[in-house]
Amino acid sequence: MQKALNLLLQNMSEKNATLLTHSLNVAKLCTIIAKNLGMDEEFYYTAGLLHDVGKLLVPNALWDKSIAISREELEIFKNHSKWGAELLKMLGLNEFSVIALLHHQDTSDLPLPVQIVAAADKYEAMTSLWRQYKKPVSHKEAIDELWNMGIFQPTVIEALAIAQMELITKKEN
Ligand SMILES: [Fe+2]
Ligand SMILES: [Fe+2]
Repeated sequence: MQKALNLLLQNMSEKNATLLTHSLNVAKLCTIIAKNLGMDEEFYYTAGLLHDVGKLLVPNALWDKSIAISREELEIFKNHSKWGAELLKMLGLNEFSVIALLHHQDTSDLPLPVQIVAAADKYEAMTSLWRQYKKPVSHKEAIDELWNMGIFQPTVIEALAIAQMELITKKEN
């Protein structure tokens, strides 16, 4: 598994720097959420790293655009969930495939592993500086938004709020 993982990471860094940054940030958040919930930290680190791996298959022309992408281009981007799930299955990383497939489904019946990665993913996207088209929101605004979505279990959002505080504390020390 380590070999496949290293290869995917290398491809992600070559594809787009923000893809790698986002994936690493999500992986870190997932790890601390898992720790706070007493779950498998290594599994969630890898799940966070791989949730957007299908973006490797999005054509290069759609990345690094200086203007907002069109509706058609957005539809192509949306395929990354399905493509990621298929890619992971092909590589024998089946345990991460369902997370990649469902991480953008906004329903309240998502399995817990998908909820953890999806919450970390949404939080990271809302608060990060790498997005070109939207300004980052504060920690509190992002957590409030996750509550408002009404799709995440309270324990997941609470663990995420604590996770982020732990990351901030680590950076300051
Ligand atoms: Fe995604
Ligand atoms: Fe993502």
